[in-house]
Amino acid sequence: MDRPTKRILSGVQPSGDLHLGNYLGAIKNFVALQEEYECFFCVVDLHAITVWQDPKVLANKTREVTAAFIASGIDPKKNNIFVQSQVPQHAQLAWLFNCIARMGWLNRMTQFKDKAGKNSENVSVGLFSYPTLMAADILIYLATHVPVGDDQKQHLELTRDIAQKFNNDFKTDFFPIPEPLIFGQATRVMSLRDGSKKMSKSDPSDYSRIMLTDTADNIAQKIKKAKTDPQPLPSTKEDLKQRPEAENLISIFASLQNSSIENVISEYAGKEFSDFKRDLIDLSVSKLGPITTEMNKLMTDTSYIDSILNDGKDRAINVAEPVLTKTKEIIGFLS
Ligand code: TYM
Repeated sequence: MDRPTKRILSGVQPSGDLHLGNYLGAIKNFVALQEEYECFFCVVDLHAITVWQDPKVLANKTREVTAAFIASGIDPKKNNIFVQSQVPQHAQLAWLFNCIARMGWLNRMTQFKDKAGKNSENVSVGLFSYPTLMAADILIYLATHVPVGDDQKQHLELTRDIAQKFNNDFKTDFFPIPEPLIFGQATRVMSLRDGSKKMSKSDPSDYSRIMLTDTADNIAQKIKKAKTDPQPLPSTKEDLKQRPEAENLISIFASLQNSSIENVISEYAGKEFSDFKRDLIDLSVSKLGPITTEMNKLMTDTSYIDSILNDGKDRAINVAEPVLTKTKEIIGFLS
């Protein structure tokens, strides 16, 4: 079996419309990495159903994430784009990892605590064991690198712990210890309504996030309404401390413009937010508009999307199956 040195796996849930955080924290980085790495990009529908998903819309949400990947610039011929539930080896390896991971490790996952809130007795078992499936997504391809937003850091540490414990328990070096790739100016995009909260699909306010499906008018309205503070824009990076909303908008600007936070600060130092917001609207519309247009176009031809996913599935299974077979052999299962 070949042991790759530069293989990426990353996943995006089809659990709602994609937002600017998904794009700047993850998908934009996937596009940048595709030349250098062999890439597996997965639409993680098994993860999505850890909370309720409407069966009438799930398939189309899955296609929409695929369309977003392609519209953002991921080449579907060169990369493997596929759906998690169509590659059964993920769920099979996840079971094996459920028997490796410890309750204490999963109990420490902050994302579970945030999502379950006070309702932890009543959430699905899947939501609790979510990170072991994520470890399986990565390790079933022996992936060496995982590009994600900052919020997935703890899950990746758990993936590394699972790989390490499996290797130690079975006295092998079969699984690689994958490295997170968390980079760019917007690794944690915050809500437009509250700079202390992450931009997320589950926020009840539509004004908290920019969606990849938003029109230019929607984008303009949301940025105009975005929370700021009464001071003008800062003149040094230091001045951004204690100004989370300003920091967030400047990071978004820098990321969309492919420049640095320092550059944006030096361009706007001392200016009013109204001027800055006007330019941020123009920049956002010019960068996101073409992606939205292309996504909408792709979504009119679902058979094209399905054929990409079908190819991706075959290629993914070709890599995943031998890894699962070897894992079962290491554990001692009858072949
Ligand atoms: P998901 O679907 O919530 O998000 C997809 C990607 O978007 C990033 N992201 C953000 N980045 C910056 N700012 C934000 N506000 C923001 N919100 C989301 C996420 O970090 C992620 O990279 N558990 C994963 C999906 C997954 C996965 C995997 C990822 C399943 N298996 C294996 C990597 C490897 C998730 O819920 O992503």
